[in-house]
Amino acid sequence: MTCLILGGSGQLGRCLQDRMTALQLEYVAPGRDQLDLQDAEALHSLFDTVKPQAVINAAAYTAVDKAEQEPQLAAEINHILPARLAQLCKAHAIPLIHISTDYVFDGTSCRPYAPSDPRNPVSVYGQTKAEGEKAVLQSGVKGGIIRTSWLYSEYGHNFVKTMLRLGAERPQLRIVADQVGTPTYAGDLADAILKMLYSADHSLSDVDIYHFSNQGVASWYDFAWHICRLKGLSVEVQPIRTEDYPTPAQRPCYSVLNSTGFIDKFALSNRHWLEALEHCMTKLV
Ligand SMILES: NC(=O)c1ccc[n+]([C@@H]2O[C@H](COP(=O)([O-])OP(=O)(O)OC[C@H]3O[C@@H](n4cnc5c(N)ncnc54)[C@H](OP(=O)(O)O)[C@@H]3O)[C@@H](O)[C@H]2O)c1
Repeated sequence: MTCLILGGSGQLGRCLQDRMTALQLEYVAPGRDQLDLQDAEALHSLFDTVKPQAVINAAAYTAVDKAEQEPQLAAEINHILPARLAQLCKAHAIPLIHISTDYVFDGTSCRPYAPSDPRNPVSVYGQTKAEGEKAVLQSGVKGGIIRTSWLYSEYGHNFVKTMLRLGAERPQLRIVADQVGTPTYAGDLADAILKMLYSADHSLSDVDIYHFSNQGVASWYDFAWHICRLKGLSVEVQPIRTEDYPTPAQRPCYSVLNSTGFIDKFALSNRHWLEALEHCMTKLV
């Protein structure tokens, strides 16, 4: 089966391609130069040419702060694109795996978020991702929406790479300690998505919402502290409050996801975020 991957140059897209190449699974992953994600006609033609049997949407406008100044573009990629994709997949009777985010929640929960918990995004990024989810759900397509959190990998721009760079340049890092979530290695999410899609035991039916994060809980401060420790950096990592580091976009102060349902349904393996971080950092030397 040929799988169409959108967002192939992103963190998750590249991890998916690594694994699919290793497993000799067929895929097509057009880049920006081959497909304009805002062009409905181009997307239509791509379906006719590629004739995919499944689609993974790993494309997203992920610049959380910049989205506050570019709400229209964020909406095009995070809402309109998945809406179009869902209609096309429905028309072709193929499954769509759409990736979403913990930032659809407001952070006021006092327990890990379940997939059925109400959305209440506090940023433009979160709002546009929430609208994308709703459009996929309303389309009647089969497949799944998988929410994840705090993604990092050996590819692209992410918190791990930023901490490694700043930790080598500066004597001290001041990192927010009152926002809590779960760092998730994009390679582990890619494994979970492929297990779900190619699982022989489950034919994908009506679209469902799932959560997938690595295990455990951390603040950005904890995450930074362990990144610097694992790299052997002597930088001092100092905890600060959200109000001491103002950003254009508000972020949920708590966005831990309950991944149990997804893990159990597809018999997925899932490791602690610290173990996953150690693994990823061996790829960053
Ligand atoms: N990153 C996180 O911390 C995080 C947390 C929770 C959920 N998620 C979700 O996880 C999924 C994967 O995230 P990621 O970190 O892998 O994203 P990423 O590294 O930012 O990659 C996003 C992909 O979308 C493409 N894209 C974005 N805007 C585009 C445009 N206007 N035209 C063409 N292509 C465009 C990018 O292409 P270029 O490379 O050409 O820009 C890239 O391939 C997304 O749905 C995201 O919302 C991410």
